[in-house]
Parts: sequence; C-alpha cells; structure tokens
Amino acid sequence: MAERITQERIAEHVRRLGDEYPPIELDSVDREVRAPEVVARRFGHVIDYLARVELDVDRNVLELLVLLPDVHEVDRAFYADVWQPQEIQHGLILDRLQQDIGRPAAEPELDVAVKIKLLGALAHIPAIQDVVRLIYYLTGASTERQAVLAYNVIHGGMTELGEAAIAETIIAPIRRQEPGHFAFYRMSATELVQSGALRPWQLHLTRVLRQRSYNLVGTNGQDRYRAQMGAVVETLGFDTDLERYAREVGRIEAQLLWAHRQGMAYPPYVLAALRESIDLYRERGFAA
Ligand SMILES: [Fe+2]
Ligand SMILES: [Fe+2]
Repeated sequence: MAERITQERIAEHVRRLGDEYPPIELDSVDREVRAPEVVARRFGHVIDYLARVELDVDRNVLELLVLLPDVHEVDRAFYADVWQPQEIQHGLILDRLQQDIGRPAAEPELDVAVKIKLLGALAHIPAIQDVVRLIYYLTGASTERQAVLAYNVIHGGMTELGEAAIAETIIAPIRRQEPGHFAFYRMSATELVQSGALRPWQLHLTRVLRQRSYNLVGTNGQDRYRAQMGAVVETLGFDTDLERYAREVGRIEAQLLWAHRQGMAYPPYVLAALRESIDLYRERGFAA
C-alpha cells in the first residue's frame, strides 16, 4: 500500500464531510409513491432492515461511549458531529417511507449488549483500547461498504419501478453520504496499522476477535437479524456472486489485517457470515 495517511488528513476529511454534507431534512423528501404495494412487495423487507439499522445509530453511539473511553478528538468529532446526525436522518426518512408503503415502524435495538460492556471494561487498558479502535474502524469500513452497495441496487430498482421520487429524493441523497463514512473508517484503520503503534500481539488479538465476532451490517450477533440480512442479500441479488460481494466488503480488512497471507481477497469469515445468513433465511424465513 503506497498511500500514506496522516491524522491531519483524516481530520480534514471529517471537517469536509461536516461542511459539505449536512444531515438530510425530512422536509426535503418528495413522498410521492406511485405504487406502494409494488414497492412493498419488491423492497419492503429491505427498507425495513435498513431503516432499523440506520436508527440503531443511537445505540451505536452509546456503544462507542463504552468502547472508547479515551476517545481521540477526531473520532469523537466524526461520530458525534457528522455520523450520528446524518445516520439518524437516514433512519427517520426510511422509517417514514416504510410506513408510507404500509409497513410497520422500525424497532431499533437500543440496549447495549453485555459483551460490549465487558469489552468496554477491558478497553480502559491502553493496549486494549488500540485493539478496540482498530476493530471499530474495520467494522465501520465493512458495514458502510455494505450500505453503499445496498443503496446502489435499491436506487436502480426504484428507478426501474418508475418510483422517481423515492430514487431521487430518498435513496440518492442517502447514498451520497455513505462513501464519506466508509472513507473515514478506511483511512483511520489504515493510519492506525501503518503508524506501527500496534504490537504483533495486538494485531493477532484483533484477528482472533474478528474471526470470532464478525457480523454483517445490522445483525448484532442475533439469528433473527442474520436471517433478515440473508433475505436482503438475496433480494438485492448479491447471492448470485457471493465471493464478489465478500471481496467488496472484506478487501480493506484483508489488506490491513491479513497482509501476511498473500493474495487473500477477503477474510474467510466474511464469506462464512454471508453463507450463514442466507442459509438461516432459506431454512427459517423471517421467523428465525
Ligand atoms: Fe446511513
Ligand atoms: Fe453510513
């Protein structure tokens, strides 16, 4: 990797995101839906999933308060001043859309899991804090990439259905804000690894923790969400080339964490998580 990333560059990126991408206002949305039942049939459960995941941002912020007791100013500025204000609007807008097409409101998860609290207790140890930071960045890079890919397909799908208002005043503005989130996590993870601040044992621990606890976006370690995600992956057509999707989602992590395994295009646990989600959905449907 030739690209050299400095903390100043990351801080500049965060400032720019804040300046150029204000949170999307609810009033900016054109709520015309031409055929609500068609949209619901085609994308209803996908919108449900994304609305809930976007609204989960408030729990994610509580988790970060636990996980990053010694939070760096750039990280704080990103999640508190840029990311949360943007994501919560994505959630509110999608939640209203899902109700406009006749589906129930989203039920975000607002309780911080015990596992997170335990990790948070350990995160007071500085060496563990750095491991947790790297996991936070890798998780962010993976989940934001999944968001970008999903909104791309949904934008195309809504356009095809002739739902121009949804495509252009909901999905397109949301989609524009996700790559900046991805870039923040990609740059932050890259900077942390390149800086050499992490000892080999810390990188090893990061790999072990990722292998054991990798989660696709919004699955929160729960089978019911894994099954829902399996359905999302199928509806959006990613299951037709799952390895390609795993590559897209896992590339940064493969480069930063598994560089010693020459030629690894994605960590195997990414593909395993995708297969598990799809299997759960095929076996149990939404009742998992
Ligand atoms: Fe979002
Ligand atoms: Fe995002």
